[in-house]
Amino acid sequence: MYRILEILRREQGFLSGQDIGEQLRISRAAVWKGIKKLREEGYEIEAVTNKGYRLILHDTMYNEKEIAQGLSTKKLGRTICFYKETTTTNGCLREIALDGGDEGTIAVAERMTAGRGRRGRHWEAPAGSGIWMSILLRPNIFPSEASVLTLLAGLAVCQALEAETGLSPKIKWPNDILLNEKKLVGILTEMDCEMQQTHFVIVGIGINVNTTEFPEGLGDIATSLYLESGRTFSRKNILQRVLVNFESLYEEFIASHSSFAPFLFRYKEKCSTINQEVKVLGKETFFAQAVDITPEGELVVIRKDNGKQEVVFSGEVSI
Ligand code: BTN
Repeated sequence: MYRILEILRREQGFLSGQDIGEQLRISRAAVWKGIKKLREEGYEIEAVTNKGYRLILHDTMYNEKEIAQGLSTKKLGRTICFYKETTTTNGCLREIALDGGDEGTIAVAERMTAGRGRRGRHWEAPAGSGIWMSILLRPNIFPSEASVLTLLAGLAVCQALEAETGLSPKIKWPNDILLNEKKLVGILTEMDCEMQQTHFVIVGIGINVNTTEFPEGLGDIATSLYLESGRTFSRKNILQRVLVNFESLYEEFIASHSSFAPFLFRYKEKCSTINQEVKVLGKETFFAQAVDITPEGELVVIRKDNGKQEVVFSGEVSI
């Protein structure tokens, strides 16, 4: 069926069932069956007597085939596991990783029924509205160095959204992405490791693209590209751009021996947390003024209660 899609995509005009059949060495009945299946998948294919079939391209189409089409990465997204519905893409990809899945494999879902957020929270992931994607990495790094990958994923997504939409999202340290101070993107990085060795890292990215409404309680803190701009965007284009950006940052990270220092300037440029008052949620919860980010990617804060400077390694801050 996808070979028929390729032919129609190349042709960009009408092509008769006979021509398609001849090119693929299949019967006209088989062509018709393939067309029917493509339509069931959501492709709009016009059929006109004496002319044949024509593919009407919509950039809203979102599946394995569309994501692969025109993707220019070397590794990330070369294997795509697409789910119309699944529990959690991070969970699916973990199984794939344990079965020996290749670095760069991605799991993408149209809808997640048990999307995972940080701190054990649920991540709302309805169909048709967002990008719910997990990326498998197998870096040869110490487990302690993996948190930098989370920061780089945030940077890659932020830059991708800016390029694709013309909007100016900001990173809330370490890796939430906000637009007009509401949460647009969440990133959940999970890994499998021993004391000194990382087996694999899964970077799970959730982007609210065309979401028109959020469940009660979320509307005040979450947003989507659509809600902030009044425009809808192609999930495929954004997803591809995220992969291209992240691959380039990842390669640079590996080449720089897992250091965050080369990215510090770029990250700080997009980060809105510096100079803000934050609530640090960790073993101890306290209020502080964020003042800087270290070359290791940690947040430097001045505590409100005792005026002392502290470095926050990971975890979460709320504004
Ligand atoms: C957060 O709490 O901010 C992190 C949310 C991460 C959501 C993404 S969507 C794709 C991937 N699969 C999941 O189950 N969660 C992550």
